[in-house]
Amino acid sequence: MTKETVPRSPADQLIVALDGMQRSEALALCAQLPGLRWVKVGLELFVAAGPDVLVALREQGLRIFLDLKFHDIPATMAGACHRAASLGAELITVHACAGLKALEAAQTAATEAASLEGFPAPTLLAVTVLTSWDDKRLADELTIQQSIDQRVESLAGLAMAAGLGGCVCSSREVSHLRQRHPWPFELVTPGIRPQGADLQDQARVMTPAAAIAAGASRLVIGRPITKASDPAEAFRRCCQELE
Ligand code: C5P
Repeated sequence: MTKETVPRSPADQLIVALDGMQRSEALALCAQLPGLRWVKVGLELFVAAGPDVLVALREQGLRIFLDLKFHDIPATMAGACHRAASLGAELITVHACAGLKALEAAQTAATEAASLEGFPAPTLLAVTVLTSWDDKRLADELTIQQSIDQRVESLAGLAMAAGLGGCVCSSREVSHLRQRHPWPFELVTPGIRPQGADLQDQARVMTPAAAIAAGASRLVIGRPITKASDPAEAFRRCCQELE
């Protein structure tokens, strides 16, 4: 299958994170959101509900971002990405610091599996530095002397060299990474808060429109939609902000 063109419709740009839910709650919530196209299944839902939840979400017509952040030896990364792609996940996260060989093996395996099943070629997204780290802890605990900005940039470059299709990056990093990596490199950005929304535990946030303007190709939004008193209205407003 051919690669998509740059996502322009709000429904293609918004990925709703299904965190803090059991399988039945997640499926029910998705059914309540007219126009929803993409969902993110993270560790919490995947561990609770198992791989079958991906099949059930796909049966609702949804596209899957599987955010399990694989990091292992090349053969294990390849095996896990092969399974994820054969379940129909189209965006799959891996840690860039697994290294070139593991990233290449993972991408090859995912592409092969999707082609065997007749699914679109999945995009592997590299996780660079988690936003829970800061420069001092990187140096003190991991003896890494690079700043976070330098490390994000070098790991994004490694992902690109390995043939990966994009990165997960914070709103702080997105504009800089976009200058170096034009579309079709995906930059998927969490930490998004619509105008006036509760920040919850997110320290640095951007509005949906600002993050897209800064170069994000897709946005991950969880609680502002999933915990809203009217999730369908909250989703509609996020889409409207991107119109
Ligand atoms: O509920 P909220 O919109 O804050 O959810 C954001 C989602 O993006 C969660 O699934 C969270 O784990 C993920 N994420 C994040 N910050 C990162 C990486 C991932 O918030 N740096």
